[in-house]
Amino acid sequence: MRITLTVIKADIGSIGGHIKPGERLKSRVRDFIKDKGTKLIHDFYLSSTGDDIAILMCHSRGEGDADIHKLAWDAFIAGTELAKEMGLYGAGQDLLKDAFSGNVRGMGPAVAELEFDERPNEPFLFFAADKTDPGAYNLPVFLSYSDPMYNSGLILSPHMAKGFDFHIMDVSHLKGDRVIVLGAPEQVYDIAALLRDNQRFVVEKVYSRTTAEVATSISTTRLHNIAGKYTGKDDPVMLSRVQGAFPACGEALSPFVKGHLVAGFMRGSHNGPLMPVKQNQSISYFDGPPVVSCAAFCVHEGRLTEAADVFDHPFWDHVRAKVSQKAIDIRDQGFSGPAMLGYDELEYGGIVERLKKIDKKFKVRKPPIESK
Ligand code: 13P
Ligand code: 13P
Ligand code: MG
Ligand code: MG
Repeated sequence: MRITLTVIKADIGSIGGHIKPGERLKSRVRDFIKDKGTKLIHDFYLSSTGDDIAILMCHSRGEGDADIHKLAWDAFIAGTELAKEMGLYGAGQDLLKDAFSGNVRGMGPAVAELEFDERPNEPFLFFAADKTDPGAYNLPVFLSYSDPMYNSGLILSPHMAKGFDFHIMDVSHLKGDRVIVLGAPEQVYDIAALLRDNQRFVVEKVYSRTTAEVATSISTTRLHNIAGKYTGKDDPVMLSRVQGAFPACGEALSPFVKGHLVAGFMRGSHNGPLMPVKQNQSISYFDGPPVVSCAAFCVHEGRLTEAADVFDHPFWDHVRAKVSQKAIDIRDQGFSGPAMLGYDELEYGGIVERLKKIDKKFKVRKPPIESK
């Protein structure tokens, strides 16, 4: 059976600042999908990560389907009405356009989609991150699809022997999607040279070179490119098929042990370590740290199993303790140097305005006599 997995995620309001959407708001969105989605979708799963609500849908309508995107958009609009009634912070934050125009891409919500012929058993992972941007997945994706130190299956399994194609997007190019396809292992240095720049180049899709099947899909939304100003971080989602021709579940998870430093955290303006967290985890310290959740499923004839919460395990408690220390260490440096993002990436207008004012007050000294 050919199916499509579509995950659409938005921040439509949250409690206590950018902390969590709360059960009432999630129920409103869930009830809307249950009520209006019956004819369109086979199944769905709704969760929150930090202040974002994600709707994972399973259907047979292909990628970029207007009705599926509208279902999620309308559910978020319905939720925004409740968020306003409840006085939640940032009600409708990620819904940047007034009218739906056929596809939520470019309208604020993050979207990732995978269309494929279901294998007899079809396990996959759904990742959602908060307080960060799509480049947060660059390093873990690079490592699990190209580095046998993190994925020994690349050398152990004949099904992965030919490697993977990385589809990488230049997200700073605003006139259309600027994409390059590079293959690992042969072009691994070129891939690394691009992916080191998490703000500009992001992995959009990965394909198996053994079976030509799609392996992974990542949202590439950059909100400030759409809104032209700070409206919150992009908080990206990712869908990854696992096992067989793809990394095993554990091989896809292994790079997340790093708690690598990503852009985001407080006011979207800092660097901080990415903490793997449980489903529906809220946000705390310094509006962070940046978090990533992961639910594992099998999908069969379009129906989802219950979710297995793969970061809900004693092993990850140890990782979380290490990542907490790393977060404290970088925050110990306050605003200085790499603790905060560079000027171009500063999401908060305030500092840019401040620097403009200060800039006018600089005076250029007359050159000293000896240099004349
Ligand atoms: P969100 O993008 O998750 O809404 O966070 C915004 C922010 O600036 C937190 O400090
Ligand atoms: P305000 O500046 O609206 O209080 O929000 C700050 C914040 O929560 C970071 O995004
Ligand atoms: Mg928010
Ligand atoms: Mg968020």
